[in-house]
Amino acid sequence: MLVNMRELLADAQRGNYAVGSFSVANMEMVLGVLKAARELNAPVILQIAEVRLKQSPLEIIGPLMVAAAEAANTPVAVHFDHGKTIEKITQALDIGFTSVMFDGSHLPLDENIEMTKRVIEIAEEYDAAVEAEIGCVGGSEDGSEDIAINCTRLEDAIKFEAQTNVDALAIAIGNAHGNYKSTPKLRFDILEEVEKNTDLPLVLHGGTGITPDDFVRCAKTGIKKINIATATFDSVEHTVRTCYDDKKINGYYDLQSAEVEGAYQNAKKHILIFGTDNKA
Ligand code: 13P
Repeated sequence: MLVNMRELLADAQRGNYAVGSFSVANMEMVLGVLKAARELNAPVILQIAEVRLKQSPLEIIGPLMVAAAEAANTPVAVHFDHGKTIEKITQALDIGFTSVMFDGSHLPLDENIEMTKRVIEIAEEYDAAVEAEIGCVGGSEDGSEDIAINCTRLEDAIKFEAQTNVDALAIAIGNAHGNYKSTPKLRFDILEEVEKNTDLPLVLHGGTGITPDDFVRCAKTGIKKINIATATFDSVEHTVRTCYDDKKINGYYDLQSAEVEGAYQNAKKHILIFGTDNKA
């Protein structure tokens, strides 16, 4: 069933686990993620980032994501990831997304706060949740830029919480989008400080390549939403390639099944690591 992301994150705070937020690009990936959610009785978030809309137009993939969430038998929130423009954020809300992110991480803090408040005002009309980001997560959501990691400052997190009514806050603790060149060393010292001094559900972007131990430690230290994108795309590609190599694809529908399988395997793996199984 389609739910507000706020509910999923509140449950995650009570249960001390994190919910996986899986980026999708087509129907097969949506089906794969929801198959894993159903099998493991897990809540999940389906998301797509603004930068991906050139490949998957919002007016087409958005209604598909919402319809799939409505038909699912576990709680599913539909989230607009890394919203950059009010226009696209509003379009996602009109389509029925139950959560939107405004990414003002590149802006000076006060401007980020002002813009986030504007987005919150708009989202309130739809009763949708809002995620914001402070500090700057490395890399770019589409892997095209190498933005330096700029870790979140505790005083900024405290100010952000006090001045906005945001539902979730993405922080930068040495995480980056895309495949890491070497295993990341997350700044748990920063995460612990932010967790201790704020009540907000925190969000970890750049999930691909973070170790299972670090995921678990994050989930026990205030991180309640973990974004996974590249790992799913890679898993889909790898599964399709292997199926071709093994001569298991004879025609289009076998290809389609291999795509669903790739997304399913990756979502399943992460749901189990995050501890979201049987939390629906
Ligand atoms: P990865 O591509 O590193 O998994 O990051 C996903 C993400 O944070 C999407 O916002």
